[in-house]
Amino acid sequence: MLAAGVIACLLFAFVLVQGARLLGGPQPATSGGAVINTAGADIGGPFTLTDTSGKRVSDKDFRGRYMLIYFGYSYCPDVCPTELQAMGRALDLAGPAADRIVPVFITVDPARDKGKDLADYVRAFHPRMIGLTGAREDIDAVTKAYRVYYKLGQPSKPGARDYLVDHTSFVYLIGPDGKLAALFRGSSGADALAEGIKGALR
Ligand code: NI
Repeated sequence: MLAAGVIACLLFAFVLVQGARLLGGPQPATSGGAVINTAGADIGGPFTLTDTSGKRVSDKDFRGRYMLIYFGYSYCPDVCPTELQAMGRALDLAGPAADRIVPVFITVDPARDKGKDLADYVRAFHPRMIGLTGAREDIDAVTKAYRVYYKLGQPSKPGARDYLVDHTSFVYLIGPDGKLAALFRGSSGADALAEGIKGALR
């Protein structure tokens, strides 16, 4: 399996390089650098979750505003903090347009992420960021709708809280109508993300 994965990666890299050559050499990063083409893809949808004060909230509560959503978990050692930092910074870079956007962190680890701890965590990345959690069934429903993959790892001993969670890391921009407005790849960086956001709001 590993060998097949490596071969697939090499093949993908080869295709990318060849593609760049066909287009006349490596392309400069454009404003659409972070944007993933989602034409025809059915991503997103209704959800009901719980905010950090324990109140139930649904996607309908956000109608009329944009949501910039990231799925992850607060105990994540590297990827989540990096991505959330980029989201916060991107909102600052996007200027006044970002006032129409609510940054949202949805945990894939509701057993550990809730209440004040979760509120403190998200606030560190952006003063307006909200954290959403819920019952495992709620999280499974919303991750399914958003095509998020996650898998809880094994703790060091039964019952320990030191497990890792494997998960995909995309950034979703949901429009005021509740529909996906743009999908951004993870690790795009704040600048590319800000450009993508501005482009989607234009
Ligand atoms: Ni993470």
